[in-house]
Amino acid sequence: MKIAGFKIEEWMNKYEPSAKYDLTTTCISPLSIGELPYGKNIFDVKLGYGDIEGSLRLKSAIKSLYEAQELNNITVTHGAIGANQLIFLSLLDMGDEVVSIVPTYQQHYSIPEALGCNVKLCFLKEENNWHPNLEELDSIITSKTKLLCLNNPNNPTGSVIPDWMLEEIVSIAKTKNVWILSDEVYRGLNLIGKPYSKSIADMYERGISVGSMSKTYSLPGLRVGWVAAREDLIAEINHQRQYNTISVSILDDYFASIALENRERIEKRNFGIMRQGLSILNNWLNTESRVSCLLPEGGTTVLLRYNLDIKSRDLCRDLQLKTGVAMLPGETMEMEGYVRIGYCAQDLEVALNRFSQYINKG
Ligand SMILES: Cc1ncc(COP(=O)(O)O)c(C=O)c1O
Repeated sequence: MKIAGFKIEEWMNKYEPSAKYDLTTTCISPLSIGELPYGKNIFDVKLGYGDIEGSLRLKSAIKSLYEAQELNNITVTHGAIGANQLIFLSLLDMGDEVVSIVPTYQQHYSIPEALGCNVKLCFLKEENNWHPNLEELDSIITSKTKLLCLNNPNNPTGSVIPDWMLEEIVSIAKTKNVWILSDEVYRGLNLIGKPYSKSIADMYERGISVGSMSKTYSLPGLRVGWVAAREDLIAEINHQRQYNTISVSILDDYFASIALENRERIEKRNFGIMRQGLSILNNWLNTESRVSCLLPEGGTTVLLRYNLDIKSRDLCRDLQLKTGVAMLPGETMEMEGYVRIGYCAQDLEVALNRFSQYINKG
């Protein structure tokens, strides 16, 4: 299968290792094993394959994140990246029509394209607060559409689709018999209203929820994600999964279970980091006239719109060379004229001040 280059990954692999101030990150300061209450039992864990589709303990902890999912509606995957890929492989055939709401994680259009699907993009716009335009969505989704892909909360814009709007999207999909893949890796990180939005899997029988330990729970190194969806789709995913996963590491399964069982503690810590980042970002935006941005409603990233006559790739390359500050060019997300930053990054204040010095030197 030939597939387009994954632009964000290519950029980050090249530039992140040499960054002094890394604003490309989407994670909230990863936790160490020592910060998890793992107890002595870790030394007793036998390093076998473990339960192939995820331990009962882990699946039960995942189930508790949903209102109406049972154990049979859940399977554990190699990160959300593994979950997304297995869903596309399970659901799509050449010639199928797929609608993807962008900007988003590139998997959501490049994998369907590589599978020979007819992919239509529906762009979020800043003037709509980065929320989907329902009329436009309704016209772009046809009776031929098989799958709608969205990412909520959204990376890179930091927008969150309100629950009432999600209901509307579900009713559009329902009338046209369309599956919805909702990549919910930032679910639980809403800054407005309740921290957890409704999950698409709890709202719609063709709703597919993708979750992960990487963002909300600060454990990207575990490589644990999951799918929650209708039992027959989970069975199909498990069928595909046998060819590429066997099981996730038994240690990853073990630590993910512990983290989810103690998630309130992690969530409290992470909201502290998010609110601090938000306040630094807000103060900086008030002083920097050549950059504007809609403040995040959730998630860990925002798009900065810059008023400079330079392409985003050239800007990020030159900025990093001269200041050590790494940002992600909007072009890697089909959003020229913007750069993405992770506002929960460790050196946010220093990095933004350096960015200002860089801009204002001309
Ligand atoms: C929207 C989205 N989906 C999926 C992933 C992959 O996450 P994971 O680390 O769980 O594979 C990311 C990582 O940045 C992401 O932002």
